[in-house]
Amino acid sequence: MNADEMKKMAAEAALEYVDGGIVGVGTGSTVNHFIDYLATIKHKIDGAVSSSEVSTERMKGHGIPVMDLNAAGELDIYVDGADESDHNLALIKGGGGALTREKIVAGASRKFVCIADGTKLVDILGKFPLPVEVIPMARSHVARQLVKLGGTPVWREDFITDNGNVILDVHNLEIMKPIEMENRINAIAGVVTTGLFAMRGADVLILGTGDGVKTVLPK
Ligand code: 5RP
Repeated sequence: MNADEMKKMAAEAALEYVDGGIVGVGTGSTVNHFIDYLATIKHKIDGAVSSSEVSTERMKGHGIPVMDLNAAGELDIYVDGADESDHNLALIKGGGGALTREKIVAGASRKFVCIADGTKLVDILGKFPLPVEVIPMARSHVARQLVKLGGTPVWREDFITDNGNVILDVHNLEIMKPIEMENRINAIAGVVTTGLFAMRGADVLILGTGDGVKTVLPK
């Protein structure tokens, strides 16, 4: 079974967690499958809050009403993918560059259901380069501070986020203390968001694997 089939399995399984109301929706190839499944039950939900322009367009294409988070209030559920998850369900996200809005919608939701293929579960976060969204004028300053934290930041050239900012992908981090690292990166002037979701990690991780769907809860 290939990775896309595993993503699809996880996405379909996440539908069981949707119980009407307004659904927070993440971004990425796994979430694209989820959006397609969500469309099959769109009559049962009031609408969705989106974490990116790409997901908004896909949902609108299916006729799913997309709402403003300010009008929606607190959400029952947020469904999103991840680039890596550890066993406590601290995540690296932002491979698709939507990390800031994803973190906002995750923070505004009571339950975060993360969907991924089985390869995303790791013992220690950091093999996947950690995305950091940065105000453009602060790019070099932030990069120098990230080097002091032990990383190797690489500017994601030719990419601008939905918020008009740039991304530094930080290689060579071995993130032993995710919450501490999230706080340290957030404290650098010019950082908008780090793709480390440790303070607000997932509540449940649904993995598509060659042996079927596996559900992981924080250790
Ligand atoms: C986008 C993200 C995605 O959730 C993450 O990159 C996983 O993507 P995919 O489902 O395509 O593997 O954080 O900013």
